[in-house]
Parts: sequence; structure tokens; C-alpha cells
Amino acid sequence: MTFESDVIVLGAGAAGLFCAAQAAARGLSVQVLDHANKAGKKILMSGGGRCNFTNYYIEPSCYISHNPHFCKSALSQYSQWDFIALVEQYGIAYHEKKAGQLFCDDKAKQIVDMLLDQCAQFGAQVRLSVPVSAVEVVEGQYQVQAAEQTFRSRQLVVATGGPSIPTLGASGFGYQLAEQFGLKVYPHRAGLVPFTITDQLKTLCHELSGTALNVTVDCNHTQFHEDMLFTHRGLSGPAMLQISSYWWPGDELQVNLLPAVDVASELRQAQHQRPKQSLKQWLADKTTQRFSEQWWSAVNAPLADTRLAQLNGEQMDNIAAQLHQWRIKPSGTEGYRTAEVALGGVDTDELSSKTLEAKRQPGLYFIGEVVDVTGHLGGFNFQWAWASAYACAQHL
Ligand code: FDA
Repeated sequence: MTFESDVIVLGAGAAGLFCAAQAAARGLSVQVLDHANKAGKKILMSGGGRCNFTNYYIEPSCYISHNPHFCKSALSQYSQWDFIALVEQYGIAYHEKKAGQLFCDDKAKQIVDMLLDQCAQFGAQVRLSVPVSAVEVVEGQYQVQAAEQTFRSRQLVVATGGPSIPTLGASGFGYQLAEQFGLKVYPHRAGLVPFTITDQLKTLCHELSGTALNVTVDCNHTQFHEDMLFTHRGLSGPAMLQISSYWWPGDELQVNLLPAVDVASELRQAQHQRPKQSLKQWLADKTTQRFSEQWWSAVNAPLADTRLAQLNGEQMDNIAAQLHQWRIKPSGTEGYRTAEVALGGVDTDELSSKTLEAKRQPGLYFIGEVVDVTGHLGGFNFQWAWASAYACAQHL
């Protein structure tokens, strides 16, 4: 069976559904094809089931790309305020969790339902469980093959996302398509992902699993001030997820475990005020009993029971350095099994920043995560999906 339409969108995720609705609203006939049995699976899972759908403070500097300017055009064509207005139009209640991050009060499903309603309202057809196997150009039209079905259109939008969490239907199909049409694709790797630790710090992480500390973490000239979470296998929490997008295998992380405390000077003060206090108790007061016990047994067990009065200046400076500049070399990350995003992807030099169309392949568009634009944690990736989808839809 053959289906003809003005536009085919591959992928019924965040970018694909939004692009399809926007294009249909402009009067185009649109077919959305997805191999998954449900639309928007990542949206449903996002933000702990509440979908952090955008951020009040969207800035191009919150995106990682080989061309940091590329995202500016799309982000300015469709802003966070535009998406917030749509969410409000649908009566979806939301709240700011922290730092401008907007979440549904109720369920992420409300966002998927809103996108599907927009598709239905404007007549974009969403077809699920379609096993897309091949794309080719036949007589100037894109021809998509899926089992016994053939879909044809003059314009093809690739919105198949990145390969993170394959169990949700994620694949590297978009990269393959880009390469098939001669577009350069940057190597991809997992981002916004927990670290694994296998060296002598593994026991510390395991013993402290579930403990969170507010830290600053530095790597490759980038710093985040967020919570860090110890896990059975390593380190996670927003601080680690954020910095993972800037980390390369072999790099060291530098963690300030007490960014709000000047350890050297507070130890000297405490020495006068509470000379009989043990170092272990001093750190427990600044963090938790559990953290202090495990920390000293990992880094310097004999020192833990030392009274503050017995410490000399050099020892206090060393303790300050250990707590302010804790150096860790992760063995790796949890990879695509748990990563929120894929870094890298279709080279932005191949695409128009205004329309997302491939410069050398008319009628072919790449939007959302498949493009080499990756946001920080906090709603930035969905905003890129909405904005790139909108920019593309205006020019189809
Ligand atoms: P998306 O992955 O949404 O959609 C791609 C679609 O293409 C899927 O439906 C897939 O089935 C389909 N597809 C893939 N291969 C195909 C093929 N070969 N044939 C047919 N169809 C195919 N971001 C954020 O801003 N706030 C948040 O709260 C979160 N939370 C979050 C949690 C978790 C667990 C994950 C994994 C990710 C997030 N993210 C996030 C990131 C966010 O989900 C992601 O950036 C967007 O979903 C990307 O949108 P796309 O439409 O580009 O891809």
C-alpha cells in the first residue's frame, strides 16, 4: 500500500510530534511514523514522570555543540514563553522546582496528550508500530519503506532522537540516515549520565550510597554547583549528570565537598572554641555522621579521632585541600542504558540554523536530539526539541 503526503516525519517523540502539529497547522498533509508502540515514550519517563518541559532561563550557553551559535536562531523563533503559553492553553498545571525548571504538577502524560491532541486537531496522522526499514529518493520524492507499506513525500523530517535508553525505542537510525545522504555526523556518546567508579573509592561510594551533598564539581573549565549523590556503583545526582556532558574518558573531576565552608579557617576557629572535639565530629557537623565516618576511613583513618587541639597548621591545610579539591577519576559512565541524552550527532554545518534543512539535500530536515546540540539538565533538551521542530515546521 502506498501513502502520499506533503511531509513525512520520522519519530513520534517530542520534536517529531510538535513539528507534525505545527506543519499541519500550516495546511500541510503530514504523516508521522514511529517504530514504537506508543508516542512520546521519553516524555512519559522524563522528570521522574512529571516532565521538566522547559526552563525559565533558556540561554544558548546552556547547550553543547561544535557550533555554539547554531541553536540561537531556533531558540529565538520559539521560546520557552511560547511553550509555556501552550501548556497554559491546555490548562496543564505546572510549578518551578528549582532554577527555572518547570514540571507538570500531575503527569508527563499531559504533555504527550497535548501534543497528540494538536496533531489530531490539525490533521497530522500519527502511525505507531511502523518498522521503518529504508529511505530513498525516487523521482524527486522521499520514499520510506516499512514492511508492506510505502510512504512518499517531497519533504522528510528526521526526528528519531539519539540512542539513549534503547528499551524505549531509541536508536541511532537518524545518524545512519544522515550518513546515507552524505552528511557528516560527529561521533556520539552518552551525556547527563551517572559515573561508575572502580578504583579504591568504589567502597566509599558503595558505603555512602543514597547520601547526597551539595558540591561544586569542575572538569574541562566547566563548573556546576548542584547536589551530588553517592550510588552503589559510583556517583550521580544533578552535579555529576551535568558535568558528565563535559567529561571524556581519562579526565579527572575535581569536587569541592564543602563549597560553603572555608575549611582551613573554620578548623582554626574551631580549634580555639572546641579544642576537645574530634575531627570526625567536626566534619559530621558540617555534613552527616555517616559521611564523616566513611570519608575518614577512606582517606585518612588515623586522623579521624584526633582532637582539633592536636592539629598543626599543615595538617589543617591538607584537610582543607582534601575536602575542597577531592580528585576523582571515574572509570566510565553508565552509558546509554541510563543516559538522558546523546552528545554529538548530525554536524550543524550541514544544516540551516534557520530551517534545519540539510544544505546539500533539499527537502531533508533534522530536528531534536539527533542534531549536534545537547542541553544542560533542567528542561533545556525539551526546549531544543520544541524550538527546532517549530523552526523546521515554519519552512516546510
Ligand atoms: P525522542 O527520543 O523524544 O523521540 C524519538 C522518536 O523516534 C521515538 O519515539 C523513537 O521511538 C523514534 N524512533 C527511533 N528510531 C526509530 C526508527 N528507526 N524508526 C522509527 N522511529 C524511530 N529532557 C528535558 O528537557 N527534561 C526532562 O525532564 C528530561 N528527562 C529525561 C528523562 C529520561 C529518562 C531521558 C532518557 C531523557 C530525558 N530528557 C529530558 C531528554 C529528552 O527526553 C530528549 O532530549 C528528547 O526526548 C529528545 O526529543 P526527540 O524528539 O529528538 O527524540
